[in-house]
Amino acid sequence: MRVVLGVGGGIAAYKAASLLRLFTEAGHDVTAVPTEAALSFVGKATWEALSGKPVRTSVFEAVETVNHVRLGHEAELIVVAPATADLLARAAGGHADDLLTNALLMARCPVLMAPAMHTEMWRHPATQANVATLRSRGVAVMDPAEGRLTGKDSGPGRLPEPEEIFAEALRLVAAGSKTMDDAGRAPEEGPLAGRRVLVSAGGTREAIDPVRFLGNRSSGKQGVAIARAALRAGASVTLVAAHLEVPPPAGVELVSVESALELHGEMVERASAADGVIMAAAVADFRPARPQRSKIKKRDDVPDEPIALVRNPDILVDLVRQRDGEGGHQIIVGFAAETGDEGADVLEYGRAKLERKGCELLVVNEVGTDRVFGQDENSVTILAKDGAEPQHVAGSKDEVADAVVLRLARALDAR
Ligand code: CTP
Repeated sequence: MRVVLGVGGGIAAYKAASLLRLFTEAGHDVTAVPTEAALSFVGKATWEALSGKPVRTSVFEAVETVNHVRLGHEAELIVVAPATADLLARAAGGHADDLLTNALLMARCPVLMAPAMHTEMWRHPATQANVATLRSRGVAVMDPAEGRLTGKDSGPGRLPEPEEIFAEALRLVAAGSKTMDDAGRAPEEGPLAGRRVLVSAGGTREAIDPVRFLGNRSSGKQGVAIARAALRAGASVTLVAAHLEVPPPAGVELVSVESALELHGEMVERASAADGVIMAAAVADFRPARPQRSKIKKRDDVPDEPIALVRNPDILVDLVRQRDGEGGHQIIVGFAAETGDEGADVLEYGRAKLERKGCELLVVNEVGTDRVFGQDENSVTILAKDGAEPQHVAGSKDEVADAVVLRLARALDAR
């Protein structure tokens, strides 16, 4: 495959060298197109040696080859890594002031951008608006990873690992995604275009006192992947996030909550306006009955007190009830974390849960301390109230998310 690797002027440019190697070692033909600024970080010689091709940054070099037209035209994939704030802005604005932006304007192939910048720049409304614009045009913009940045700061803004970018790029090509059709029309509308989707994600935290809580092992990765997949599918997405260990995707309306009761309140309030509701959050079934206003002290003169628990509302059940009461027709999707035992296997428990909760689809997950939580891979079975055959999906949490979102879209279309 003919790949154009665009490299923006950020410190993470050095990682693009490994990415280039991943493509060439897999037998792809790579042309590196750094920006002028990128060359201040990694010089031309590196790109030329690794790609085995001459490297140009400007439209005024090798003019006789009409490079600025040819590159984008012939590319079967364009990957930009790192995509700096400035490069995202130029691409979103349709600028054509260097070879890379010319290639991007000419391209009709899948385009993947992997941003890297300081957290403040990433979170700036200008950058977020540029990312939203690019995504609405069918450009796949990855979310930056979270962690240590160039200086002492840390947060979302790190370039995703080259292996991750490589895998995402191949997935994009395999999915046949295009930024535009050959006539230059906007991308085909996704399966959730025009739909509003409400997603909950992460693990709730139930206060014991101001510094302690009861929590769970949910990382929020699967819920966040679902929100991202719904965005990719064209939906407008509200993400109600309990504790997450991964950054929420850019482009969602984000509502942060802490406890099951707060999550309950936000979901109940927002569900009626949604077409689809996906309860991917790991909700604590119990909360301390009497959370203390001040930190609990150990005291030798008073006996240790057990923590009394009370039941939290079942949010999923309440959402189904509310919908039925209102005569609404949202499609509601639940998750089930199950471990099989002597009594029944995971799917039998799943079917019973689907019945009990009353939702249209239930995504059943087999869990254990070493399974699912915090992992990047997942394996689920999607059960449907209408009795459709159980659908087994195994793969990355993104692949699982795509499958869940597609089932939601189909259920909405059939409604
Ligand atoms: N859920 C919810 N409110 C709760 C508990 C769970 O809305 N208080 C939702 C979860 O978001 C998930 C589904 O219900 O979509 C199933 O969660 P799970 O923890 O598997 O089931 P529980 O209802 O807690 O049942 P049990 O613990 O008995 O298996």
